[in-house]
Amino acid sequence: MRKTESREVSPLPEKIGILVVSYGARAAAMIDAFARSDNYRVEIYVADKQKNPFNVKQAKEHVVIPDLSIVQICKFAKRFKHKIDFGLVGPEKPIIEGIRDVVEQETDIPLICPTKEYALEASKVAQRLLFEKIVPEANPKFKVFDLKNFSTVAAVKEEVNKWLNQTGNEVAVKPDRPAAGKGVGVWGDHFNTREELVDHFMSNIEYGPVIIEEKIEGEESSFQAFCDGKHLAPLPETRDYKRAFDGDKGPNTGGMGSYKTVGDILPFMTTTDKEKEIEIVTQVFTELRRRATSTDLRGIPFYDAFIHTSTGPKLLENNSRPGDPEIQNILPILKDDFVDVCYKLLEGNLTRVNLQKRATVVTYKAPPNYAGFANAFSERVKTNEANTPIDLAQAEKLTGKYRDAIRIYPASMELRENGNAYALGSRAVCVVGVGNSISEAREVSLEGVDAIAGGSLWNRTDIASREHINRSIEHMKELRLSKK
Ligand code: GLY
Repeated sequence: MRKTESREVSPLPEKIGILVVSYGARAAAMIDAFARSDNYRVEIYVADKQKNPFNVKQAKEHVVIPDLSIVQICKFAKRFKHKIDFGLVGPEKPIIEGIRDVVEQETDIPLICPTKEYALEASKVAQRLLFEKIVPEANPKFKVFDLKNFSTVAAVKEEVNKWLNQTGNEVAVKPDRPAAGKGVGVWGDHFNTREELVDHFMSNIEYGPVIIEEKIEGEESSFQAFCDGKHLAPLPETRDYKRAFDGDKGPNTGGMGSYKTVGDILPFMTTTDKEKEIEIVTQVFTELRRRATSTDLRGIPFYDAFIHTSTGPKLLENNSRPGDPEIQNILPILKDDFVDVCYKLLEGNLTRVNLQKRATVVTYKAPPNYAGFANAFSERVKTNEANTPIDLAQAEKLTGKYRDAIRIYPASMELRENGNAYALGSRAVCVVGVGNSISEAREVSLEGVDAIAGGSLWNRTDIASREHINRSIEHMKELRLSKK
């Protein structure tokens, strides 16, 4: 049933078809939320990066499109266009490439994700310039360098050094485009001397513009909001754990886990912090809304990483898709029927989303070849991951004990011909624990990850730990006192 048709009351739940574009566990959580619909009999059509064992089981039709090419996704959607009522897109790559524009034009299937023009992460430079215009107080100090504006390489180097003399060396170097050169580099992580910093910068500048911005000290939170194009429906705050290893050591990753409290804010935040975040995002939304059609921004156009400082939240980056793992903290505790939420997104009347007042903790397991684990902890690597099946059965059995309070979502895992599932190169599987407190949710999540057998999958053990949360609280207290 398409968005504009009226829904009739019928004794049997109505059958609908939903296209889901999947990269990993984020989409598994979406599919799971659809599968729990009471109001509809949902048939899922999945365009997937690989044969995700969870998605394969849930799907009416499943296709693997390893590069998530929008042409191939569109072909798949076209084949089932008379059965699919709408689509939901998980990862950013197809959004940046314009999946919404192409699929809606070619198939008439409405998609829930912003149009190509509003995939703000496509250009970090454009994003910073936009924020500077609308919310300068939330923007770190930054400067954009572009070889086109310099006659020699020596001249650009000189300008970089001048800028670093102003900011100090504690900066982040961010290429405009997601995959240029070596990517984002941060003082203290990727370089420890000015020379290394400038080398990192030079290895990127040949591919296009590069930003050098001040590194902000503070505590990070993830803001997400559903948007029907006209309204923002902010979701509770979540905290992502970007570093690979316990104690926030090791390289940055896609996120090794995350937590959400029973309420809307994080333990180190104040309600004013959240209000300020909403104010900042609303200002950006209002400006974009002036330029956009009433549906262009539909989806989760504002998944924003904020850093909380003594002078308020600063915007680290904006993405036009939900966070992974952050959306896994939200979807399992939706009180509303997720299909109805999506219809409201399509109809332009989603003003709020109702969630259970529960805490959630997500813990990811990853294979040894992810984030340098095998090098850092070689003694803990016992198996060749490529040939060792991952067994989720014991973890899945925990649903007998915890019912809805545990969810197991495979991510970078592949179901093979022999019926077994194997970890690939990235975060392999996450377990969501739900509870009446963070510690209760955390226990469930850890019990789940411990029950996953096979291979040498590893995970952080301090996601949402009391110690980690206390450190964040103390850090924020110090910052607020020192006004840093
Ligand atoms: N958790 C980081 C991201 O989704 O980009």
